[in-house]
Amino acid sequence: MAFRETGNKFLNQGAVHAQRMIIIVEQALTGGNLMSFLEWDPKYSVNVPQLDKEHQTLLVMVNELHSAMKIGKGKEITEKLINQCVNYAQQHFQNEEKFMLQCKYADFDEHKKQHQLFVERVTELKKELTKNNFVLSSSMLQFLKSWFINHVVMVDKKYSVTINGCKIS
Ligand SMILES: [Fe+2]
Ligand SMILES: [Fe+2]
Repeated sequence: MAFRETGNKFLNQGAVHAQRMIIIVEQALTGGNLMSFLEWDPKYSVNVPQLDKEHQTLLVMVNELHSAMKIGKGKEITEKLINQCVNYAQQHFQNEEKFMLQCKYADFDEHKKQHQLFVERVTELKKELTKNNFVLSSSMLQFLKSWFINHVVMVDKKYSVTINGCKIS
C-alpha cells in the first residue's frame, strides 16, 4: 500500500473514532438517548388547558436546567434556573388550588399537603446547594423530574373529572 493511501486510511479512522467519542459522551450525558431529559407525553394531560400549559412550562424549565448542567454552566446560572423553576411551581400550585377550591374538590386537603411537601423538600435541597454544587444540582434535577411525573400522573390527574365538571368563574 502506498504511503499516501496508508496515511489517508489512518486519518479517516481518526475521524471515525472522534465521531464515536462525541456520540458516547452525548449518550452518557443524556442517560443513553438523545431525547430531552423530560419529554411531554399525552398521559400527563389533566384535560384542563391552563393547567396542562403550566405543566408544559414546568417541563421546559426542568429541561433548561438539565441543558445548563449538561454543558457545564456555572453555579450561579444553575441556581437561578432552579429558583425560577421552583417559583413557577409554587405559582402553579396556587392556581391549581384555586381551581380545586372553586370546584369543591373532595381531596383538596391531601392535594395541598403534597404541594407543601414539595416545597419543604425543595427548600432542604436548596439549602444543601449553597454548601455543595454539581452532585446536589443533580439530586435536585432528579427530584424535579420524578416529582413531576409522579405528582402529575398520580395526584393531579385525579382532579380532572371534578374540574371539568364544574363552571370556573
Ligand atoms: Fe398538584
Ligand atoms: Fe400540577
